[in-house]
Amino acid sequence: MSETMIEFRHVQKAYGSDNIIEDLSFSVQKGDFVTMIGSSGCGKTTTLKMINALIEPTAGDIFVDGTNIRDCDPVQLRRSIGYAIQGSVLFPHMTVEQNIAYVPNLLNKRDKKRTALAVDKWMRIVGLDPSLKERYPSELSGGQQQRVGIARALAASPDILLMDEPFGAVDEITRSSLQDEILRIHRETQITILFVTHDIQEALKLATKVLIMDHGKIQQYDTPTRILQHPANEFVAKLVRRERHTCLLDETRIGSCEFSRAACGMVRAPYRG
Ligand SMILES: Nc1ncnc2c1ncn2[C@@H]1O[C@H](COP(=O)(O)OP(=O)(O)OP(=O)(O)O)[C@@H](O)[C@H]1O
Ligand SMILES: [Mg+2]
Repeated sequence: MSETMIEFRHVQKAYGSDNIIEDLSFSVQKGDFVTMIGSSGCGKTTTLKMINALIEPTAGDIFVDGTNIRDCDPVQLRRSIGYAIQGSVLFPHMTVEQNIAYVPNLLNKRDKKRTALAVDKWMRIVGLDPSLKERYPSELSGGQQQRVGIARALAASPDILLMDEPFGAVDEITRSSLQDEILRIHRETQITILFVTHDIQEALKLATKVLIMDHGKIQQYDTPTRILQHPANEFVAKLVRRERHTCLLDETRIGSCEFSRAACGMVRAPYRG
């Protein structure tokens, strides 16, 4: 039986008279890998930041693991939620090792050995060579910095991982290997992930469910297969048109084409806990 990990109930967010999010309701089950995609400025980052209480909703309620986050201490809440974002999120004056050890050090102050083992483990999992431990962020490539950011978020052993375009600024090959690594991490830890991306291919590859937003509203929230086979409206159909037509067959025959992502099972099956 699946358990709800995150739930939005009629959430609204406005800045002054500017209504960014009108009425957002959805839930994420424990162990789900939800990718969120939508046009720039449609409210994806705002949605993520409301979950870890970096932004407060104007109205409505958000529940994390059954508790209304209005009743939570934000610092405590953020300890159970990893947050990995694109760009310079590392502490520049700390080495790779110190960056990753930051939260484990807070949690077990005395047990240095345990923290050191955790750092080794997460560096291995995200594919960082141990020789990079003593380097500073400015001495790393963009892809390496992103891996450190992900290792740091994961080292806190969070129940939920929020990722805001984490693979945005890397080359195709690094991006593809980071995607494979996050899939493996998800399989191994069964952590609940919410992942914002602008890349529909990435969204479909990673997700157990894809949340498609436009103008602060959900256009479709479904498994990759169902989104490809049954786009809910024009907006979604346009977004996935190329992914549906990789086999170059017409609409009526797409379901039977061996090259069609919609038919050949290249997308992930939904997680059943
Ligand atoms: N502090 C703020 N004050 C006023 N408006 C804001 C503020 N923060 C964000 N906004 C506006 O809210 C809207 C949603 O922003 P948000 O960052 O959530 O978009 P997004 O979907 O993440 O976009 P992108 O894909 O470009 O990252 C945007 O129009 C933005 O300009
Ligand atoms: Mg954003």
